[in-house]
Amino acid sequence: MKIVVIQGPNLNMLGIREKNIYGPMKLEDIHAQMKGFADQNKLEIEFFQSNLEGEIVDRIQECLGDADGIIINPAAYTHTSIAIRDALSAVQIPTIEVHLSNIHQREEFRHKSLIAPVCAGQIMGMGPFGYHLAMIGIMQLLSEVSAFKQARQAQKKTQEQA
Ligand code: DQA
Repeated sequence: MKIVVIQGPNLNMLGIREKNIYGPMKLEDIHAQMKGFADQNKLEIEFFQSNLEGEIVDRIQECLGDADGIIINPAAYTHTSIAIRDALSAVQIPTIEVHLSNIHQREEFRHKSLIAPVCAGQIMGMGPFGYHLAMIGIMQLLSEVSAFKQARQAQKKTQEQA
């Protein structure tokens, strides 16, 4: 099973930017923890960060036929990007949206996520731990999807034999 983690603009500045909001942890340290957890659970994991909307759209499209799940923090594009939302909607891969901060406690322009409606779930306000929760969530989702597929295959087989 493969998961792709996509990080939006300015998340490469974690550990430097607004530490009072995002905390002191660097993105590479968050990714190292996620990699450790993925290894323990025999998951393949890839990380991608970009400050450019089109590159994020391209990376989502590349997930088609390649990734089983996506964890995305679209950062500021959460509140503006119809293109990222459409890309997620196009690939139809189970996706969890993560925010380090609680966007509802912040400025009003952050309250709306254009991405949330095309995601299976959203985790926010838990700092870097939110990414760990997202990995647990995606594993659960993927096991449900695979159990559903197996049940459907078994049902098809019985129908063919009848
Ligand atoms: C963020 C919240 C966004 O509003 C903001 O633009 C970010 C980070 C978060 O993780 O809390 O860059 O996505």
